[in-house]
Order: sequence, then C-alpha cells, then structure tokens
Amino acid sequence: MKTPSMNNVCDPGDLHAYLTHKRQRVNQALDRIWERYEARPTPLLEAMRYSLEAGGKRLRPILCICAAETVGGSENTVIEAACALELIHTYSLIHDDLPGMDNDDFRRGKPTCHKMYGEATAILAGDALLTAAFEVLAEAVQQGDARVPDFKWIEAIRVIARASGVSGMVQGQMLDLASEKKAVSWEELKILQQLKTGALIQASLHVGALLGGGDSRQIQAMCAFGGYIGLAFQMADDILNVEGDARITGKPVGSDAALQKATGPSVLGLDAARAYAKDLVDRAREELAVFEENAAVLAALARYVVERDR
Ligand code: IPE
Ligand code: IPE
Ligand code: MG
Ligand code: MG
Repeated sequence: MKTPSMNNVCDPGDLHAYLTHKRQRVNQALDRIWERYEARPTPLLEAMRYSLEAGGKRLRPILCICAAETVGGSENTVIEAACALELIHTYSLIHDDLPGMDNDDFRRGKPTCHKMYGEATAILAGDALLTAAFEVLAEAVQQGDARVPDFKWIEAIRVIARASGVSGMVQGQMLDLASEKKAVSWEELKILQQLKTGALIQASLHVGALLGGGDSRQIQAMCAFGGYIGLAFQMADDILNVEGDARITGKPVGSDAALQKATGPSVLGLDAARAYAKDLVDRAREELAVFEENAAVLAALARYVVERDR
C-alpha cells in the first residue's frame, strides 16, 4: 500500500505559495463580510476590523479550505465557514490579551485591541466578532449552495459552536488561567491545550472535510489528524514564547514564564516539548494515508505547524 502521507509532501516553496495565495483569498472574503456593516462605521466596527486586519496567519481558515480540497471539494464551498473560524479565532485573541487574562500589549505586531480602544470596546469587539461568525454561517445556509445539503451546514455549525465554547476553547482558557502558578501534570496540560487551541483547529479540519463532501472515513481521519496538529500547534506556540523572536511572532516572548503559565516547556522542559511536537506531527501525518496523493499539502502544513517562526 502506498503511504503518500509520509512521502508525498509538497515542497516548502510550494507550501509558501499556497499559504500566500489562500491567505489572500481569505482576506478578500473577510473584506466582503464587512460590506454588510460598512454603511454604519462605529468605534466598535473599527476595533473589530483593527484586530481582524492586524496580520494573522489565517491558519484555521486555510486548514479548513485545505481539508475540503483534500477530499475533492472546493474553496468556494467552505469559504464562509473558513471566515467564521477566523472571526472566532480573532475574538479569542482579543479576549486572551485583556488585562483580566494574559494582559498582553502586542499582538500580530501591533498594540493589542484594548491598548488601542480601551478594555470595554475590546470586550465588545470580541463579542461582536463571535456573533458575526454565526451570522455569516447562517447566511451561508440561506444562500444555499446546492452542493451542500442543509443538514451538513447544521452539523458544521454545531461542530464550530462546540469547539468554541464550554466544551472547547472557552473551557480551555478557563483551565489555562486556573493553572497559573500551579503544579500541572502532563495529562492536565494535554487537556488544557486540546481545549484552548486544539479544539478549534480540529474543528477547522472537520468542517472542511464535512462541507467539502468527505465520506465518514475521511472525516474521521481528518479529525484524528486535527487532534494531533492542534496539540502540536500549541506546543510550538509555547516554544516560540521561550525562544522566538518577538519582531517575527508579533507578540511578547517570555510572557508565559512571567505569568507562571502551564506550558509545554514548563511542564516537560524545552527539549522534551520539541520532541513531543515532532512526534505529534509524525502521528498526524500517518492519519493522512487514506487521502493518498491528495494529502501532499496537508502533510506539508502539518510540518509547518511546528517549524514556523511566527
Ligand atoms: C495564536 O494563534 C494563539 C493560539 C491559539 C496559540 P495563531 O498563531 O494562529 O495567531 P495568528 O492568527 O497568526 O495571529
Ligand atoms: C491563546 O493561547 C489561546 C486562545 C486565544 C484561545 P495563548 O495565550 O497561549 O496564546 P498567545 O501566545 O497569547 O498567542
Ligand atoms: Mg492565554
Ligand atoms: Mg496569550
């Protein structure tokens, strides 16, 4: 049997071009979302747009699109879902940076939303981005792409909601805060990271495969892949907080240690955290075997998740 997941990987130059192209496509689609609000610009909209356009990597929407393409679907079919994921992610970053949470001054290379607009506006900008995501999703169902039956959209909305709330990211954020200055076990850290970051990344791949027309075996494999790279992504984020370059990451370095956060490096040590992240990527790529030669970009993305410098 072929194991293209291990051998068939697009080269770094091609991945770079893919990421650049898809980032542009996502940014164009996000621009179109503003058209519905643009008629009434307000300080709230300005704050939402400021954070959304500050220069994120757009990794979750790109993973969603790539998952759809891997199962034979198209970018157009999932573009609204991809945008919704980025709206939710950006809301989570605005709230994550607030004084009551990580109290960070820089994000995506710019002053954080609350530094620019004040705390109250930043809280509301986050709230409004989260609700906008579900508005965009509901409108996508109403516009009715004939290729996707409504029941699949409803399932996609459920998956995204579940990954974002008390069964996913919000609960993970709660655990993250509760773990500051505490001795946290390796098992506890994995749960924390899976919830705060892994869940939305896994949902991005799940929804991409679902709306892209994947069968149940493909969706299952995509979820397993997403589980591994979601954890690997947070491990890499923790490592960048120790040894990254703030001019490249666009956010502070050393802040996790200052807050005594539970992180990969603090619980496992830096070398073991690095080794674990690599191991997660290997396991993720094994899950791609079912997609045969169509998995070349996802396989490269898996590697990118831990080799990135921002
Ligand atoms: C940062 O996410 C926050 C985490 C969940 C670890 P990203 O590294 O994807 O941030 P942006 O979107 O590129 O700014
Ligand atoms: C952010 O985690 C996770 C979410 C926003 C859900 P971190 O607090 O570790 O991420 P950074 O380092 O601030 O981006
Ligand atoms: Mg945090
Ligand atoms: Mg943070």
